[in-house]
Amino acid sequence: MSDARTVLERCDLLAGCSEDPGRLTRTFATPALDEARELVGGWMREAGLDTRRDPLGNLFGRRPGGGERALMLGSHIDTVRDAGRYDGPLGVLVALACAERLRGTDLPFALEVAAFADEEGVRYGTGYLGSSVPAGRFDEAWLERVDADGTTLADAIRAWGARPETIADGRRTPEEVLGYAEVHIEQGPVLDDRDLPVGVVTGIAGQTRARVTFTGRAGHAGTTPMEVRRDALAAAAEWIAAVEAVARDDDGLVATVGELTAEPGAPNVIPGRVTASLDVRHPEDGPRERAVAVLRERAVRIAAARGLQTAWDELQSTAAVPCSPELTEALAAAVTDAGHEAPRLASGAGHDAAMMATIAPVAMLFVRCAGGVSHHPDESVRPGDVDVAIDVTTRFVERLAAAQNPSRKTSL
Ligand code: GLV
Ligand code: MN
Ligand code: MN
Repeated sequence: MSDARTVLERCDLLAGCSEDPGRLTRTFATPALDEARELVGGWMREAGLDTRRDPLGNLFGRRPGGGERALMLGSHIDTVRDAGRYDGPLGVLVALACAERLRGTDLPFALEVAAFADEEGVRYGTGYLGSSVPAGRFDEAWLERVDADGTTLADAIRAWGARPETIADGRRTPEEVLGYAEVHIEQGPVLDDRDLPVGVVTGIAGQTRARVTFTGRAGHAGTTPMEVRRDALAAAAEWIAAVEAVARDDDGLVATVGELTAEPGAPNVIPGRVTASLDVRHPEDGPRERAVAVLRERAVRIAAARGLQTAWDELQSTAAVPCSPELTEALAAAVTDAGHEAPRLASGAGHDAAMMATIAPVAMLFVRCAGGVSHHPDESVRPGDVDVAIDVTTRFVERLAAAQNPSRKTSL
């Protein structure tokens, strides 16, 4: 079987690890994620890598090289709800295929494949949970956060056999990590529209995530006159319309309310309390921060006009991250060497590379996905494009190796 076929077959096998019957959902520290991690760990060992888990439960497979520093390749193995099978796993499995291809080749650095345990942040609302650990950006206060069932993050970590007390030990230093490169489906339509297999990422948009609560008063839906109601869902609806309008008003801005809970939650009870998620992104930090401030002020104003209270819990705010010019040049040169055009693309989606940039230069390769569809079960990739991604990643590693070793010719 070709390497690309193996990668796709493994993506199919991982898609079978799900917490929901009939659809793919694999969130942090669940038995489904454990099952996926076991599979990936087995494939890493088959590829000759030594595996280890860090205190959060991220999985790393490593082969030693001529130096102590490691070049890391990887992505995440968790998913959104009702997910496609390539967002995350494709990057891990292409990295693994590349390590397999380079088996037996001397490299002047260690090669490490990372399978991060949580990038999507579905269970605890915090994106990049996995890569925040090696990046040294894990905030210990997050351990007290609870999921929808009231389980704290600390307990969830413990329950799947990891060690919340020693999270800080998972931190890696710039001296240990030479660079981090991630292959990922584009999750947008540009490559498909231009009929190109891969593209090189220039940077990753910043994002803010918040939980916004509207508190009014529950009451009888049949007897409470309209003018005395303090309906939390009606207030949230007005605010959600404002979220959309503010984002439509600014070219680079996207803003989403993707989760909503209304309590107590019965057709004949006026909603007394509503919790809404908010996700705001922009390629530049200033416009994103200004938009978040506007939306916060709107929430307060809309609530006050209806006699309600609001609470604003900012869960996460990450700055826009540029990819490393040097690594990106090396990646683009690898694409050209492989006989393809190397278009530059900005990423609106978040990626573990955004965290890893704290400790190392990062680069990303996007792979065409049909119609740009992602965060949806219809995600799909072509075997030929996966083949290109493996080839390019291998050439990229070889270029970095040659640049570290002056006796070899190729330069960055
Ligand atoms: C992850 O896919 C994100 O961009 O939210
Ligand atoms: Mn995703
Ligand atoms: Mn992803």
